[in-house]
Amino acid sequence: MLVSAKEMLVKAKEGHYAVGHFNINNLEWTKAILETAQENNSPVILGVSAGAAKYMGGVKTVVGMVNGLLEELNITVPVALHLDHGSYEFAIECLEKGFSSVMFDGSKYPIEENIEKTKDIIRRAKEKGASVEAEVGAIGGEEDGVLGGGEVADPAECQMIADLGVDMLAAGIGNIHGVYPSNWKGLNFDVLAAIQEKTGVMPLVLHGGTGIPDNMVKKAISLGVSKINVNTECQIVFTEETRKYFEANKDKESKGYDPRKVLKPGVAAIKAKVKEKMELFGSINKA
Ligand code: 13P
Repeated sequence: MLVSAKEMLVKAKEGHYAVGHFNINNLEWTKAILETAQENNSPVILGVSAGAAKYMGGVKTVVGMVNGLLEELNITVPVALHLDHGSYEFAIECLEKGFSSVMFDGSKYPIEENIEKTKDIIRRAKEKGASVEAEVGAIGGEEDGVLGGGEVADPAECQMIADLGVDMLAAGIGNIHGVYPSNWKGLNFDVLAAIQEKTGVMPLVLHGGTGIPDNMVKKAISLGVSKINVNTECQIVFTEETRKYFEANKDKESKGYDPRKVLKPGVAAIKAKVKEKMELFGSINKA
């Protein structure tokens, strides 16, 4: 059964580790992440962007697929199904159709409107026992057509949003989605420390997990980050392994054109990457 992300993140914050949020794109991705979480006795968050939900056929299809896998693969570790960067309308749809967690990305609205809409989403989520992530300070890079400038969050605004009763807070600290440019300045730990001071026990979320050096990830966890989002890194290893399959002409060997064979090396690569991140984040055996 799906659970809200709240309890697992409160536990993570107390235990000084982070839970991985891994974005899913299809059945293979979802299965690979769930199996890895179960094999490593780790809680996990499945992230779904609006674009990915549409790609998979729609919100009901995603909820049905995930619930089916939980039951038939006997997944017993805590799993949250979380909308990543949802609009106000889409967050409502996901809550109504069975997601156990939503992110309402109100960073494009003026702060007053962000607050009003966030309050409404929190009320609706509470009714369903679901958790809510809010964002302050746009996270840089492009994700599903949403372009953020990589601005740094204002700790006072973070406190304001945290006080509304959200369960987790994403704050821009110089992180961006996708591969970091070579001239990236790194995470702004002074701002992170100031945000943690203002928001206290609130679990903080680090987006753009791909390519952040391990020592910075560990430092961010020590400063209150309890959820780390990873997407691009899984995509890259999946695609690299799939390319190798074709380059080695494996598709020309004994029924190598079978999609189940074609996708196998990529799936194995996702599993290895997710395990590596769970080890780094410290969530193994924390289910
Ligand atoms: P990356 O694609 O950079 O790993 O970021 C993922 C993310 O933050 C999803 O919200």
